[in-house]
Amino acid sequence: MPDMNITAVVLAAGKGTRMHSPKPKVLQTLLNEPMLYYVHAALEPLLGECVLTVIGHGADMVEAAFPGMEDRFVEQKEQLGTGHALQVAWDAVKATGSEYCLVINGDTPLVTTQSLERMAGVAGCCDLAFMTITPRDPAAFGRVVRDEDRRISAIVEAKDYDMNVHGPVTGEVNAGIYLLKISSMEPLLSELGNDNKSGEYYITDLIELAVSKGLTVDGVQCGDDLSLMGINSPRELVTAENALRRQIVEDHIDNGVIVHSPETVVIGPKVTVEPGAEIFGHCEVYGTSAVAAGARLGSYTYITDSTFAPGCDIKQFCHIEGAEVGPDAWAGPYARLRPGAVLKAGSRVGNFVEMKKAVLGEGSKASHLTYLGDAEVGAGANIGAGTITCNYDGKNKFVTKISDGAFIGSNTALVAPVTVGENALVGAGSTITKDVPDEGTGIARGKQINIKRRMKKS
Ligand code: UD1
Ligand code: CA
Repeated sequence: MPDMNITAVVLAAGKGTRMHSPKPKVLQTLLNEPMLYYVHAALEPLLGECVLTVIGHGADMVEAAFPGMEDRFVEQKEQLGTGHALQVAWDAVKATGSEYCLVINGDTPLVTTQSLERMAGVAGCCDLAFMTITPRDPAAFGRVVRDEDRRISAIVEAKDYDMNVHGPVTGEVNAGIYLLKISSMEPLLSELGNDNKSGEYYITDLIELAVSKGLTVDGVQCGDDLSLMGINSPRELVTAENALRRQIVEDHIDNGVIVHSPETVVIGPKVTVEPGAEIFGHCEVYGTSAVAAGARLGSYTYITDSTFAPGCDIKQFCHIEGAEVGPDAWAGPYARLRPGAVLKAGSRVGNFVEMKKAVLGEGSKASHLTYLGDAEVGAGANIGAGTITCNYDGKNKFVTKISDGAFIGSNTALVAPVTVGENALVGAGSTITKDVPDEGTGIARGKQINIKRRMKKS
C-alpha cells in the first residue's frame, strides 16, 4: 500500500534499565535476531523503506547491527522520554511530506503486519489513534482513561495514576502504537511537558492535549492480544521468545516439515525449510539458513546461516555456521563446519572434523579427527584420521590443495601452501612441506629402525 502516505517512527533509543544488561534493549534477541529486526520486518510489507528509527542508548551498536540503514536512523542524544524521542524525529518526519505518522515502540517485537495494517486503516478518520489492549496483567502499561460516554480522555502512566483523579482502573491499557495526523500534531508536540513522576516527556500526553483541543482521538481496542506486549524485563523477553518459537515451529509443521520433539526445536524467523525436510529435537537453526526437502538435521545440532541440499544428513551434535552442505552429503556426529565450509555432493565429514573456508569435493571423505582450513579438496579423495592442514604461519593464511582421487594417510600435517596431485598418496605420519606430483607418493617421516628389546633380568 505505497500510496497511504504514512511514515513510521520506531522508538528505540531507550536503555532498557529493567533488562539489567549493557546491551541496548532493542538489541536483545529473540531466536537470535534483535528485537528491532522484528519491528522493522512487520513494518516493511506495509511501508517499505518509509521507516525512521530513533536510536540513542548504544547508538553505535544499533547502527552496527543494521548496516545500510544509517540514513534512516535519527539520534536522540539524551533519552528524555518517548515524547522527546518523537520531537527529535519530527523534522525528519515532516521532510518526508507524509500526511500521517505511525509511531511504534521498538520493544514490541511480536507485532504483526496485520495489526499495523489495521492501525494504518484508521488514517483519514481521526487526528490521533492508538491501540489499546486489555491484558490479564496490566503491569506497568499506561492506563487508558475514558469519559462517561466511553470516549478517550487520556492515557495516564501507571506510576502517575491516581484513582481519586482518574477514576477506577478499567484494565484497558496503551499498547504503544500510535497513528498521528502530522498537521494536527505539529502545534501540540511542543506543548508536551515533563511534570510527572519520571520527569520525562511522554508521547502519551499528546492524547489529553488533543482531546482538550477538540481533535478526534480514537482508541483501537485489540483485547488481550499477546502480540502487542512490550518487553521490559527478562521474564517478558522469555515469554515472548517462547511464544514466537512455538508459533514458527508449528507453522513449519503445518507446512509439511517433519519436526520430531517440536517442543525442543528452535527455528529463527528468517530460516526457510521446505516441506519434507526432517528436523530432530534439541536442534537450533538460525539466521538465513535454508533447508531443502529431504534434508535431515540431527539432534543437539546448532546451525546458523547455512544451506542444506536434498538428501543431506547432519548427524547428532554438530556445530554448523556459514556452511553449505550439498546433496546426499553427510556430517557428524560431532562435526564442526565453520564459515566457508562446503561439502559437495555425496561427500562425508565424520566425528571431530573441523572445516573452515574449505571445499570437500564430490564423494570425498574426511571421516575422523581432522582440520581442513583454507583447503580445496577435489573429488573422490580420502583424508585419513588426524590430517591437519597447517594453514597459518602466525601472520598469514595459506591454501592447501588436495586433488581428485588423492589419499592422505592418517596423522599427516600438510604445511600450506602445498598441493597434493591427482591420485597421489601421502604416507601416514608425514609432514608434507613440498608438493606431491600427480600419481606420486609423498612420505616424510622418520625411518623406523627395529632393535632388540632389552628385557629386565629376573
Ligand atoms: C510505554 C508507554 C505506555 C505503554 C507502553 C506499551 C510512554 C510514556 N508510556 O511505556 O503508556 O503502555 O509503552 O508498551 O510512552 N524510548 C526512546 N526514547 C526515550 C525513552 C524511550 O526512544 O527517551 C523508546 C524505548 O527504547 C522503547 C519505547 O520508547 O522502545 C518505549 O519506552 P519504555 O521506556 O519501554 O516505555 P514503557 O514504560 O514501556
Ligand atoms: Ca516498554
